[in-house]
Amino acid sequence: DQIEKGGYDHFMLKEIYEQPKAITDTFRGRMLANEGIIRMAGIDDNISKFLNADRIIVIACGTSWHAGLVGEYLLEDMARIPVEVEYASEFRYRNPIITPKDVVIAISQSGETADTLAAIKLAKSKGAFVFGICNVVGSSIARETHAGAYTHAGPEIGVASTKAFTTQITILSLISLKLAQAKGTLSKTAVNKYLQTMQQIPNQVENLLKIDKEVQEIAYHYKDATNCLYLGRGFNFPVALEGALKLKEISYIHAEGYPAAEMKHGPIALIDENMPVFVIATRKGHYEKVVSNIQEIKSRSGKIIAIVTEGDETVKEIADHVIEIPETEEAFTPLLTTIPFQLLSYHIAVMLGKNVDQPRNLAKSVTVE
Ligand code: G6P
Repeated sequence: DQIEKGGYDHFMLKEIYEQPKAITDTFRGRMLANEGIIRMAGIDDNISKFLNADRIIVIACGTSWHAGLVGEYLLEDMARIPVEVEYASEFRYRNPIITPKDVVIAISQSGETADTLAAIKLAKSKGAFVFGICNVVGSSIARETHAGAYTHAGPEIGVASTKAFTTQITILSLISLKLAQAKGTLSKTAVNKYLQTMQQIPNQVENLLKIDKEVQEIAYHYKDATNCLYLGRGFNFPVALEGALKLKEISYIHAEGYPAAEMKHGPIALIDENMPVFVIATRKGHYEKVVSNIQEIKSRSGKIIAIVTEGDETVKEIADHVIEIPETEEAFTPLLTTIPFQLLSYHIAVMLGKNVDQPRNLAKSVTVE
């Protein structure tokens, strides 16, 4: 066990630290950034299905569903294809409208989640083309889909998903750029710029992981909280959901993720001096609006822990703690903003003495309904 953990105390921590390599492995052979080329056999061989699709329906569960939500923002923004993101368990039981002009993207780390597998079978029976994004090679979902792409994250043992999430987002970014290229919804220059920026992500994640000590201190401050709120907008709204899920899963602290602007329709009522609020406020992500949300939290004495872009001055003045992420395209910020949240949940769970790798009541892969 100790050998498998490679010197780390837990699989989860090892897997968090493996992300620069996992993302690089997911790029490998698929992206020639300098030439502006994206090669993905599963997409290339079926490009007409994607180009003629009325819409894309993403189906998944748990963390993979959060990656799917990031995918919605990416695909719609870059490739201009309408996207719906569905919980597999809801989709399969509500008599959904599916036609042969729909493309379904099923996302699953394990490739064995029962609800996702059943939703795929349903979509296939209605004539949809089903594309899988799985981590486990040869898994049931990989076999059941018409085509797909593997996230080459390597085995993920910790129940709380980390590197599977970032590599799923990596694949979805590549697919979005590939389709944008094929449809001409982004110029050649724009695609090239995105690819060059994307290539820097693994190094940026590597550098970001050096904030571990800082995050540990923040974790110490908030480990006794009983409720936490996570807020983000745009590409980072799903990251807020995923941040809250990570904390719930392994520390058993109640946490809710919300789109920042929705705060005023409910969660704001909960804010007082005992409520830590984790806010993503990247420079290009509706920044002014998020800053005004932060001010609203401050005026109600909430504790603010903000994730900002390097060099930010405004939020630093208001927030109790800030964590800086390096500059990148806004579309790729989820690959960076999610890292501090993973570390934070990890440290809080360790400080509380919880079983980080095998949290109570949870399974790594849910093969029953
Ligand atoms: C379980 C795991 C989660 C995972 C979800 C979906 O709940 O604990 O980490 O996100 O299943 O799993 P999948 O393998 O389909 O991505």
